[in-house]
Amino acid sequence: MAKKLAVIGAGLMGSGIAQVSAQAGWDVVLRDVTDEALARGKGGIAASFEKFVAKGKLEAGAAEQALARITTTTDLDAVADADIVVEAVFEKIEVKREIFQALDKLAKEDAVLASNTSAIPITKIASATSRPERVVGTHFFSPVPMMQLCELVRGYKTSDETLAAAREFAESVGKTCVVVNRDVAGFVTTRLISALVVEAAKLYESGVASAEDIDIACKLGFGHAMGPLATADLTGVDILLHATENIYTESQDEKFAPPEIMRRMVDAGDIGRKSGQGFYAH
Ligand SMILES: NC(=O)c1ccc[n+]([C@@H]2O[C@H](COP(=O)([O-])OP(=O)(O)OC[C@H]3O[C@@H](n4cnc5c(N)ncnc54)[C@H](O)[C@@H]3O)[C@@H](O)[C@H]2O)c1
Repeated sequence: MAKKLAVIGAGLMGSGIAQVSAQAGWDVVLRDVTDEALARGKGGIAASFEKFVAKGKLEAGAAEQALARITTTTDLDAVADADIVVEAVFEKIEVKREIFQALDKLAKEDAVLASNTSAIPITKIASATSRPERVVGTHFFSPVPMMQLCELVRGYKTSDETLAAAREFAESVGKTCVVVNRDVAGFVTTRLISALVVEAAKLYESGVASAEDIDIACKLGFGHAMGPLATADLTGVDILLHATENIYTESQDEKFAPPEIMRRMVDAGDIGRKSGQGFYAH
């Protein structure tokens, strides 16, 4: 029998996780708070499948079957028979804790409860439940169908069994996992990108080099696919400022102290591609 996955949040990440899982044969229930959000999520999945079919990377029949394996609902009770639940709602700790509190009451006793958070310590989410040993981080990357990595995060009380089940799930949907053994804010990936963006923004702010040259240095010097300032514009300067501030607050490590220019850009609304202006004009 196909294994069951529940995804909470049908936004960019939740719908991507639902898509790759259904394609890998999981029965998926996708839950959001409104029918509009669910329609947007499932519509995005259908459109993405169509692109893969058009490029000859997926059979039309396989896409149809995968799409049929995804059901949508606004009812959280639908998690009751899931083997694994992946939460992918807004990056707000109160919202996530509220959801995990509810999942604790509704999910099967042996279900894995996973969060796709990019920076919140898993232990802070897990402590909203009576079973923190079953809670783990499964940090997928955007766009989920294209990006190979899943960063698995062990909370303070995550059991070996839960980590192994999370790895089995991520690998079953075609991802390669890295394990974060200690639940530090920002894990490995968000810490690395934050440190790089903060230093790049400081170099830019102090006039050491232009945004273009900083990015070219990283691309041609280190083989990065994209420079840090272009990455900040793509991700959103606001999102990176928020992540960096969280890591700085938790770690008190000066290298994560966001430079003033990032704060002023956010104050001014110059948050990157979303607004048309960031480190670059778009
Ligand atoms: N966007 C990225 O590049 C990226 C990458 C890795 C990780 N993440 C993390 O993934 C998570 C989701 O990010 P996203 O970009 O998909 O966000 P998003 O804004 O695209 O989607 C969030 C969705 O959650 C829904 N939601 C809110 N409260 C809910 C609830 N109580 N029950 C069910 N659904 C609810 C919203 O309606 C929305 O559809 C965040 O924790 C984020 O930090 C994001």
